Amino acid sequence: MNIENLKNKALKNERLSVEEIFFLIQQLRNKNKQEIYKAADEVREKFMGNLIYLRGIIEFSNYCRKSCDYCGINSKVKDVKRYRIDEDEILKACHELKRNGQTTVVLQSGEDLFWTKEKMGSLIERIKKETDLAITISVGEREEDVYLYWKQCGMDRYLIRFETSNKEVFEKIHPDDNYEERIECIKTLKRIGVQTGSGFMIGLPFTDDWDIARDIDFCRELDLDMIGIGPFIANPLTPLKDNGVKHDIDFITGIISILRLANPMAHIPATTAFDVVLDHEGRQLALKRGANVFMPNSTPQKYRIDYQLYPDKPCVDESAGDCANCVVGRILSIGREIGKGPGHSIKTINN
Ligand code: 5AD
Ligand code: FES
Repeated sequence: MNIENLKNKALKNERLSVEEIFFLIQQLRNKNKQEIYKAADEVREKFMGNLIYLRGIIEFSNYCRKSCDYCGINSKVKDVKRYRIDEDEILKACHELKRNGQTTVVLQSGEDLFWTKEKMGSLIERIKKETDLAITISVGEREEDVYLYWKQCGMDRYLIRFETSNKEVFEKIHPDDNYEERIECIKTLKRIGVQTGSGFMIGLPFTDDWDIARDIDFCRELDLDMIGIGPFIANPLTPLKDNGVKHDIDFITGIISILRLANPMAHIPATTAFDVVLDHEGRQLALKRGANVFMPNSTPQKYRIDYQLYPDKPCVDESAGDCANCVVGRILSIGREIGKGPGHSIKTINN
């Protein structure tokens, strides 16, 4: 087993084994980081090209019915001012992000049942009609008929992370959730033909390198269209406040690289949490080491302070326009270009 062989497998889109993925993680821990980064960049270029797609994220409600042990907006956190952005203001933010060259809107919230099947449905319809943006929804676990209805209203994609493929750990840190049900949600979305994104956190308590290897392989097994991962950052307002680890940016961006080698055809975003580990550099590094998507924060500025799933989240003082400009600079600085199309899954739809 060596990195060159595994890269050649990836270039043929052959599935790596969990043992091979684990081997790569150990190489990353030891010495051969640069070779892994280079391999991932080559595989990214071959399958996904040089364009970086922008998905503007609007965090439209921080109400949540659940109490995940790591999350700063979980229902038990009292120090958070709860907000919901109304439909007209969401629409305004969608028009703005479109003007700023972002071709997808990601609507994310806590699990907020105020946004019923019908209310979300009419929001989706209105956004599609007025902007024709690609629409990604990320509002947690719902029934199949709800997902199906939203698809009929114009939803293109859905994001729902499995967080960890270790069932015991999953259930320990999700007091309201059942592992099988979470996985069912992901499989349902795939089955009904919604482009599906999922992923996990790196460095959750009670996990080790074998867990990371299995998480990466599980993304492949699920045949995901998009894969979002990021470091777990301990939040002082939550039960896991004392369970944080100090992250090494070269390790966590290397996990992006291995994720790419194991999933050549998935869209992989450089997620916001990478910037927590290396301020204003983390996301570029992820893009240079296997990622191909950037999700600028397009939430109106005044709400941002109240949507901090983890501490030190970047861009809280910035406006949507600030982030839009900043992102362009960051992408051009690494010699890549911005995708003008919707950047749909290359597995399901031609761009
Ligand atoms: N650290 C890192 N990521 C977190 N998320 C939630 N809380 C944290 C945290 N403390 C991630 C979860 C969730 C996504 C929206 O944000 O993976 O799915
Ligand atoms: Fe928000 Fe740079 S991406 S300020």
